[in-house]
Amino acid sequence: MWILGISASHNGAVALLRDGKVEVAIQGERLSRSKRQDLYIHQPSPALRDCVDYCLKAAGITLAEIDAVAASTPWQHNEFDLRRSLGDLWQPGKEALKTFTVPHHLAHAEYALHYAGTDSALILVIDGSGTFEQERRNITIQEREADPIKHIQERAKESISAYHYDGDTLSLVYRIGYPVNQELRWASERDHPSLGHIWEWASRYIFQDDSEAGKVMGLAGFGNPETFKDVRLIELLEDGRVDVRFDVLKTMLTRPNKAGVEAESDAHYCDIAALVQEETNRFLVELARFLHARAPVANLCYAGGVALNGIANENLILNGPFENVIQNGSCEDNGTAVGAALAAHHQLTGTRPREPVNDFYGRDYTEVEIADCLTRFGVTHTKFERDALVEQAADAIASGSVVGWFQGGSEFGPRALGHRNILADARSEAIKPVLDRKIKRREPYRPYAPAVIEEAVQDFFEIEGVSPVMIRIGWSKDDRLPAVTHVDRTARVQTVNRDHDPLFHALLSAIGERTGVPVALSTSYNMAGEPIVESPEDALRTFLCSGMDALFIGPFRVDRPD
Ligand SMILES: [Fe+2]
Repeated sequence: MWILGISASHNGAVALLRDGKVEVAIQGERLSRSKRQDLYIHQPSPALRDCVDYCLKAAGITLAEIDAVAASTPWQHNEFDLRRSLGDLWQPGKEALKTFTVPHHLAHAEYALHYAGTDSALILVIDGSGTFEQERRNITIQEREADPIKHIQERAKESISAYHYDGDTLSLVYRIGYPVNQELRWASERDHPSLGHIWEWASRYIFQDDSEAGKVMGLAGFGNPETFKDVRLIELLEDGRVDVRFDVLKTMLTRPNKAGVEAESDAHYCDIAALVQEETNRFLVELARFLHARAPVANLCYAGGVALNGIANENLILNGPFENVIQNGSCEDNGTAVGAALAAHHQLTGTRPREPVNDFYGRDYTEVEIADCLTRFGVTHTKFERDALVEQAADAIASGSVVGWFQGGSEFGPRALGHRNILADARSEAIKPVLDRKIKRREPYRPYAPAVIEEAVQDFFEIEGVSPVMIRIGWSKDDRLPAVTHVDRTARVQTVNRDHDPLFHALLSAIGERTGVPVALSTSYNMAGEPIVESPEDALRTFLCSGMDALFIGPFRVDRPD
């Protein structure tokens, strides 16, 4: 059975499931090359059409073979009209194609549960906002409820949800929402209990831009959490309501950074960032305890945009009540493409197949495709056998080169995990400013992350267990890794398993043989403001206009032309 899943959202995406398992998935931005590409299901959407085409071609099927299509959106559900949205890809005769709409948080939850490997779990979803309560009755797939604690009005959007899974049934147990008016604008700041929006406030205050939560996180490491230690921005009340204290936040935001001064050199901005991070850490653990008291299970699956906060995640793992916190890489809205299709699969079959944590859902590019592309770009390239290629790349990295690494199918989520990466020597003091300036155009306070072979992670970082999708942090305990250690000694670690990704594991091991540390500075393969590269063409284009020294693409090595 083939099911197409669509995330009609920012981070819009399409996933194709075969018998309940992900065959291929792609975000709209990777193909359109426009960050956070929106996809639509009710109007012509060339980006959606291209994603569907990508998935069908990767699977070697046509639309005629699709059994059902499922979509999830955090926006208003307009008419679901594939004939309009798919344009020329639509095939006459498919009018009877089964279509499903799926509540937004349920789609996040189905995605998260898919990787749990367990028969009972609590599934927590926290994001900016999801399904509009008034529209819920028009959605095809309805949620089950198990006497949930609900604080959401009819004219409101879900912002936090929790579900209990007992091995058979997935049921809503907790929901928080905030009121919105007809135009989906906020009713009032105090009626707006969304953790994500505290981050937007801080981002706007410090960077004059709502969407720089990642920068706020980086800046938090420079702040002093003691400065505002008694300030509470978000409270979990006894009955489960969430009170976001924008009034308190406002009294502190007295000096917006209108002049655009370097935030890391101003203690006030650093301390505000630290406060927002500390409050997120505290609130998340309180909420987890509240939910665990009502559903005392060992496993928590966690998704939604807020779940990308690695520091809060680590605090939840260390101080929260759950034995296991399970996350896969695509907890943003792109993951709801997978989740919507999974919900439809369950609706049609009554089953929930599982898969191990994995985010490599892009299509493979053949050696011929890559070679053709290199020839088209007119770049000199040399082909190597696998082991020789690994040796070449390890030599380059250990001797100080910045290397592009393009191997296998792309990552679906926001983190590059060893298939679309820029890599460099984690031991180098000098490499971060080079990357900041020549390639990533990053602010100096934003850290780069380490990739390390799984079996050696504890030698270099304080972290329990594994971190395959890079949404946890560890604390560096080795002074040899300045390029990947933040000012507060945190590092957003990726652990690489030999069986899961043998090629990347071999590269890190070869780096270890040369340097004594089987670790690389690992960042996503893109220039500032660009989505991660998808195709060989994207990779070549980015390589040629960046300051990278060499590119290892498929079996080929390309050196920077003189
Ligand atoms: Fe979402």
